[in-house]
Amino acid sequence: MRFNQSTSIDCGNLILVPYLERHVLKYHEWMKSPELRELTCSESLTVKEEFQMQKSWLEDEDKLTFIVVYKHGVENKKPQVLHEIASHHIDEMIGDVNMFLTEGYEDVEEDQNQICSTYIQAELELMIAKPEFRSKGLGTTIIEAFLYYIEQSGLLESTHIAKYIIRVGSKNLPSLRLFKKEGFQQTKYVACFDQVEMEKSIR
Ligand SMILES: CC(C)(COP(=O)(O)OP(=O)(O)OC[C@H]1O[C@@H](n2cnc3c(N)ncnc32)[C@H](O)[C@@H]1OP(=O)(O)O)[C@@H](O)C(=O)NCCC(=O)NCCS
Repeated sequence: MRFNQSTSIDCGNLILVPYLERHVLKYHEWMKSPELRELTCSESLTVKEEFQMQKSWLEDEDKLTFIVVYKHGVENKKPQVLHEIASHHIDEMIGDVNMFLTEGYEDVEEDQNQICSTYIQAELELMIAKPEFRSKGLGTTIIEAFLYYIEQSGLLESTHIAKYIIRVGSKNLPSLRLFKKEGFQQTKYVACFDQVEMEKSIR
């Protein structure tokens, strides 16, 4: 999304920056891990495809993504939105957080008839690629900063998002616990992928 092309979210020790070309090789390296691809339900991409993906994440109006960088020796603080790309080193990258917009469907009753109504949903994805940074509360901080940004930026209104959803493997306890804590509720279990869907309504 062009909307966040020059935006960072500063949480002190964690900073969220737009996904830029210079992040692609490191990102591609991470995604060679079969474990990480399975946890994030991602496909293996070539470097060329990853560069195309980066361009699409940066430009498409239905996608919003940030790379997460970790600053050693800095205190955590409340998220602060900066209108610039915060300075960082590639070696400080630890993961990413993103959302993409899709259309959801529901049956509603209108004049005693069942009709199919559509709405916009934002599917969230969160990944701390480096295992040594997991289970330390950072995932919680990242998702809270990301949702804070979406909610204070006017994006909810301009994109008409009605709900957030996530899809996660049924055994991914850290992810399930994190999103439950953030107010998400399970709505579906998809047996063929052993995947749980959780959602949180916005209005
Ligand atoms: C899922 C992920 C983002 C969670 O972030 P995290 O920083 O590890 O999680 P947090 O430390 O913020 O903890 C979140 C919750 O999970 C719990 N948790 C953390 N690690 C856990 C573990 N190994 N086993 C069980 N529960 C765990 C925490 O106790 C916390 O719950 P609580 O606040 O109710 O106590 C991170 O582990 C990750 O990136 N994993 C690999 C990629 C992935 O699975 N992405 C999710 C795809 S939807």
